[in-house]
Amino acid sequence: MTCKLMTVVGARPQFIKAAVVSHEIARTGALEEIIVHTGQHYDENMSQAFFNELDIPKPKVNLGVSGGSHAEMTAAMLVELEGVMLEERPHVVLLYGDTNSTLAGALAAAKLHIPIVHVEAGARTRSMTNPEEVNRICTDHVSSLLLACTPASLDNLMSEGLGAISWFVGDPMLDAFMEYRALASVPVMASVFDGSAVAMPERYYYLTCHREENTGSDEALSGVFDAAEVLDAPVVFPVHPRVRQRALSLLRARKRTNVIMVDPVGYLESIYLVDHAQQVITDSGGLQREAFFAQVKCTTLLDFEVWPETMVGNRNILAKPEKASILLAMEKRQEIDESYQPFGAGDASARIVQAIMQHGKVG
Ligand code: UD1
Ligand code: UDP
Repeated sequence: MTCKLMTVVGARPQFIKAAVVSHEIARTGALEEIIVHTGQHYDENMSQAFFNELDIPKPKVNLGVSGGSHAEMTAAMLVELEGVMLEERPHVVLLYGDTNSTLAGALAAAKLHIPIVHVEAGARTRSMTNPEEVNRICTDHVSSLLLACTPASLDNLMSEGLGAISWFVGDPMLDAFMEYRALASVPVMASVFDGSAVAMPERYYYLTCHREENTGSDEALSGVFDAAEVLDAPVVFPVHPRVRQRALSLLRARKRTNVIMVDPVGYLESIYLVDHAQQVITDSGGLQREAFFAQVKCTTLLDFEVWPETMVGNRNILAKPEKASILLAMEKRQEIDESYQPFGAGDASARIVQAIMQHGKVG
């Protein structure tokens, strides 16, 4: 009997991770995969564009759940996912990362006694005010198989008593980065500046900023823009829909700005932007790792470390969303040790599929 695996995704970073793992599942033919999209991200350029660009199999169902408070969103997903799981009866549920879609998938599957495989298990910020930390911890503690991106994540799982079901596989984001980097060239950037009054600058900084902490008030975002004004090159800022209005009105209120705001870009475009940037400024978990992969210095606008592995040799430095703090972090030179690669060898997707076959209590 072929093992039926249900992948639950809903947010941008999950589409990227699911892409490389889905391709590997198809290559091996060892599992029957169905994808369920919760609907958490729904704009064309936050969702469908990734399915097109990365050739991700079409979701069997899109639950169309988005917006609202964390409780409203998670609860609505939970109800819908239970229905789909009862109907599809998967042998195993595959979850990625730390979003509300991850948590809802975990709770729905656990209550139906369906084994859960969690990819990106064991990442910890040790800040319970960070909503993703709650999602990570809850998901890890109801899963049957925990797949860690880094040795430090594996250590966290061991220290929480979860060592017996935990394995290091590496980071599927590294697989994706290695696979798609060569395709991320100047021509793919053409569409990004279509509606923009300016052309793609040769030298630029790459900014993304979407966390509640940095976008929930004018103050934090203004601090980021204040720092951008004094940099020696433009700052390319693909703006997440949640922050678009605020960013637009803050930038319009300025006499001059160094910030080039564009719509959210596709994955290839984002990889290009990371790879060729002077530096990256971000609050994204994924972008911190991509900057590390590309050996581009990163400043992270958070007060907790999500990926401490990237902080070695000043390669990624935390900053407050304030001009002085950001500039101080950006001034520090990074030191790169080429032999240091805590995110694996770019074969995480193969190891994830193998681990599911061997340890996922499937079949
Ligand atoms: C979510 C994840 C976060 C991840 C981010 C990736 C949780 C708790 N957080 O945060 O970990 O870094 O996705 O991008 O799940 N919106 C749109 N169109 C869209 C998507 C969102 O307009 O396609 C707007 C909606 O008003 C929505 C708001 O953005 O209410 C926030 O979206 P949501 O999915 O709740 O959180 P993210 O900030 O995207
Ligand atoms: N990304 C993208 N387009 C954008 C901004 C980011 O494709 O406009 C990519 C980025 O390169 C990384 C991923 O989205 O691969 C990170 O997702 P996000 O920042 O939304 O979430 P997080 O990683 O913080 O959970």
